[in-house]
Amino acid sequence: MNSGSEVNQRIARISAHLHPPTIQMEGSSVLSRASCRAKGGAPGFKVAILGAAGGIGQSLSMLVKMNPLVSVLHLYDVVNAPGVTADVSHMDTGAVVRGFLGQQQLENALTGMDLVIIPAGVPRKPGMTRDDLFKINAGIVKTLCEGVAKCCPRAIVGLISNPVNSTVPIAAEVFKKAGTFDPKKLLGVTTLDVVRANTFVAEVLGIDPREVNVPVVGGHAGVTILPLLSQVKPPCSFTPEEINYLTDRIQNGGTEVVEVNVNYF
Ligand SMILES: NC(=O)c1ccc[n+]([C@@H]2O[C@H](COP(=O)([O-])OP(=O)(O)OC[C@H]3O[C@@H](n4cnc5c(N)ncnc54)[C@H](O)[C@@H]3O)[C@@H](O)[C@H]2O)c1
Repeated sequence: MNSGSEVNQRIARISAHLHPPTIQMEGSSVLSRASCRAKGGAPGFKVAILGAAGGIGQSLSMLVKMNPLVSVLHLYDVVNAPGVTADVSHMDTGAVVRGFLGQQQLENALTGMDLVIIPAGVPRKPGMTRDDLFKINAGIVKTLCEGVAKCCPRAIVGLISNPVNSTVPIAAEVFKKAGTFDPKKLLGVTTLDVVRANTFVAEVLGIDPREVNVPVVGGHAGVTILPLLSQVKPPCSFTPEEINYLTDRIQNGGTEVVEVNVNYF
């Protein structure tokens, strides 16, 4: 039988992820790998997701927790972070998961991270363009990137918050001001446009989407999304009608999803 104090200590250890820890510093602002191993995590990347309790954030948290290259996963949000953290931490994979709730815990969430992924902010409602989100999300991204510049200036930053065409330049300006800007480490996440392009082209060609690769360049909103239909692999050709249909559907795939949601809410 365990003594009462041993039991209490175990419970405290198990529930520690619900109470963001005072991160152990070992002579620098970076968590050491040895420290990660001591807590059961494999050596690997330390990843923070900012906006982890949202629609994108929750699925992304699960996928990152499944990645064997990740040793530490920090989940930050202004609401519901403890619940999402508890849920994700139950997955039987190596990454150690810790939750952080609210602005006062942002710096602890970011300290020592190698990769910061940002889906924080408001999403579109029917009738809105991504630009309509600018007013709110610009401020959110600015604040979060100021935290990155201060606490993990060498981290790679992946921006998901829309409008990506504008949030990436905002982040760049924040990092320039802080003297930490590295264009190779700031990315707007637009893979979704490639995924949609592959799916829609595969439908038209009548082949498996996994065999299709459509390069998409430009930005992540409307006409700035440029699918290169002449460069599709495997090589193929389209009629002018097919090109018009595919271009329009790829550029407006996000709107298609947002408008369908009218029926749900
Ligand atoms: N780049 C892409 O391909 C892509 C795809 C889909 C959605 N998005 C964008 O991603 C964003 C999130 O979409 P969603 O559907 O997950 O929205 P959501 O409302 O479900 O989630 C957003 C989360 O951000 C959190 N949040 C708000 N302010 C915050 C702050 N200051 N700090 C930390 N967290 C904060 C909210 O609490 C919420 O949990 C939207 O801007 C959306 O347009 C981008």
